[in-house]
Amino acid sequence: MTHQDPSSTIDVDKLRMMLAEHQPITVLDVRKAEDRAEWSIPGSMHVDVYEALKAGDPDALADAAIPTNTPVVTVCGAGKVSLTAMEQLLQKGYEARSLAGGMKAWSLAWNSAEVPVPESAATVIQIRRTGKGCLSYLIGNDGQAAIIDAALPPGVYQDLAAEHGWTITGVLDTHVHADHLSRSRLLAEQTGATLHLPEQDRVTYSFTPVRDGDAIGVGFSRIVALRTPGHTLESTSYFLDGKALFTGDTLFLAGVGRPDLEASPEQARARARLLHASLMRLTALPPETIILPGHTSEPAPFDGQAITATLADVTNRVGILGLSEEAFLDAILARIPPTPPNHARIVALNESGELPDGDPTDLEAGANRCAVS
Ligand SMILES: [Fe+2]
Repeated sequence: MTHQDPSSTIDVDKLRMMLAEHQPITVLDVRKAEDRAEWSIPGSMHVDVYEALKAGDPDALADAAIPTNTPVVTVCGAGKVSLTAMEQLLQKGYEARSLAGGMKAWSLAWNSAEVPVPESAATVIQIRRTGKGCLSYLIGNDGQAAIIDAALPPGVYQDLAAEHGWTITGVLDTHVHADHLSRSRLLAEQTGATLHLPEQDRVTYSFTPVRDGDAIGVGFSRIVALRTPGHTLESTSYFLDGKALFTGDTLFLAGVGRPDLEASPEQARARARLLHASLMRLTALPPETIILPGHTSEPAPFDGQAITATLADVTNRVGILGLSEEAFLDAILARIPPTPPNHARIVALNESGELPDGDPTDLEAGANRCAVS
């Protein structure tokens, strides 16, 4: 096997399917520890040998306790150093392949989990862009489907809807995203579905504006819009049949949305005040409400378990929700994390509705940073 031999590599879609099917496999991450800390493949094993491999040390993997009874997939940042790791493993007798394109390509890997929503006729599927932690949703009922916050190529959603016999009739975004390129416009174009975006004057292409209290039908189900400004001024949550709440980047399972992106310090404080009011509105909903956020901070595992909690659990977990308005403002503004890479460029593209020429993952690299916890 050589670098040029395509059988020496495995592509992202094949690896994600093997993990989803729980096939026996060892994913061996050979990146530096600090790169792995940013994001990783769920269940992967780490060996801190990046520099040794790069330096051509033939014994780089000599001390690693790599299982011998499963095939190994080696992974690095871009898929080059992992080829060296693969070659060393092949020489040791392992069945080994290298992940083509490395973690950059893994950015588009996804898995899914059905969300149990008691007392709703709708079926809800959470679709997780595992590396970035972007969560989108497919809601199906009586032959129709709506998608919330499409973050993956449209075909992913079209295939899943078709598997269930649903026609995609509505495509919704919770807000203008800053951490990933929205695929909602393209998905709506390719399916002929209505594109519903929160009413705002940021986006320059045509859409059906969603205002507070508007209802969008999916079969016999209803998705009601709750305007929840703060993370962005247009941020909107969607309430399905009074049971499940899609909170976008307003409320996460262990934190709240950051109010500072594309804002001056004064604007961030004003937005934090709006966010507090929005969160008070949401926490007044029934405690058994199922919270379905727009992101997760850890890579989404291939376990088929939805990333969700009841509103009661989230309220208990997120201490900042119990603070007074002024204490909330001080706490949130003191805890703002580093800004996501390329956020200004991503926002500009999401406002113009364009996808970049070439590989969108160049812009979207790295984990999500929309939360304050
Ligand atoms: Fe966001």
